[in-house]
Amino acid sequence: MKDENAIIIEAWNTVLFEKFSRFRHVLTTGLSAHGYALLARHPIAPGARVLDLGCGFGDTTQDIARAAGAGGQVVGIDCAANFIEVARSEAEAAGLSWASFLVGDVQFEPLGGPYDRAFSRFGTMFFNLPGAVLRNVRRSLAPGAELTAVVWRRREDNPWLFAAEQTVRQIVPVVSHEETNEVHCGPGPFAWSGADTVSDLLRSAGYERVRFERCDLEICIGRTLGEAVEFSMALGPAGEILRLAGAEGERLKQQVLAAMQRTLTEFERADGSGVWAPSSTWLISASNPG
Ligand SMILES: C[S@@+](CC[C@H](N)C(=O)[O-])C[C@H]1O[C@@H](n2cnc3c(N)ncnc32)[C@H](O)[C@@H]1O
Repeated sequence: MKDENAIIIEAWNTVLFEKFSRFRHVLTTGLSAHGYALLARHPIAPGARVLDLGCGFGDTTQDIARAAGAGGQVVGIDCAANFIEVARSEAEAAGLSWASFLVGDVQFEPLGGPYDRAFSRFGTMFFNLPGAVLRNVRRSLAPGAELTAVVWRRREDNPWLFAAEQTVRQIVPVVSHEETNEVHCGPGPFAWSGADTVSDLLRSAGYERVRFERCDLEICIGRTLGEAVEFSMALGPAGEILRLAGAEGERLKQQVLAAMQRTLTEFERADGSGVWAPSSTWLISASNPG
């Protein structure tokens, strides 16, 4: 039997990689405003050595590499080889030779270093063993270096995910991943939404000066209502409920689609610029005392 980590890595390398590739423009354009907010709050210094955790397609790794300049050293790590293959070839095409990539599980992989900064955009909350990650990352940080991460706050303030989840729940019976043979994404988008729990995790992994700053933004979840509906039915908790429901999810799909259209109409902009919904994150920073 596969262990939990292997199941999560397989999910990111297969079904989630496919869905992320299909909706990449929504994910990395629509949601990226929160990543830019984190980088604006904690700018990357020229020449910095930076580790990008759960880097996905590596677009943040590229942004960081540009900010660090050719004197810097930027490493993106992700457990899914398929993401890293894309990240490597795109950074190479962009001429960012000081950006490199590793396929590895951040929980256990030797991370190299020392780094002046660890960064993560929407990665940390999917790590199955957050304590192990935080300790492993801290070992790779220089004394005084910061870990900065952006994570979703509570679901009630993220209707772009939560309204979609509630819509699906009203129609589709929820099957937990333990009841199926399906792979799954790990703890999930709201696993780091509780500032008290996460600050305790950071403190017990040895970090100091732990800070949380709330960031509220409207984000684009589709250029059209149709695209927003498709996106919401494919990804996030709503997409997972539908996928794990299997044949029953397929059977109820048209009913969910009609309900999702009604739910998301509320967020469609009258000026034709797409579907924009409120969203809320924590911009987290914590420093390694050394
Ligand atoms: C929601 S995606 C975020 C990707 C990217 N940071 C972004 O903002 O587009 C989460 C990423 O974390 C990666 N991931 C999940 N668990 C991991 C682990 N244990 N070690 C390394 N990467 C992991 C996944 O493969 C995925 O690319």
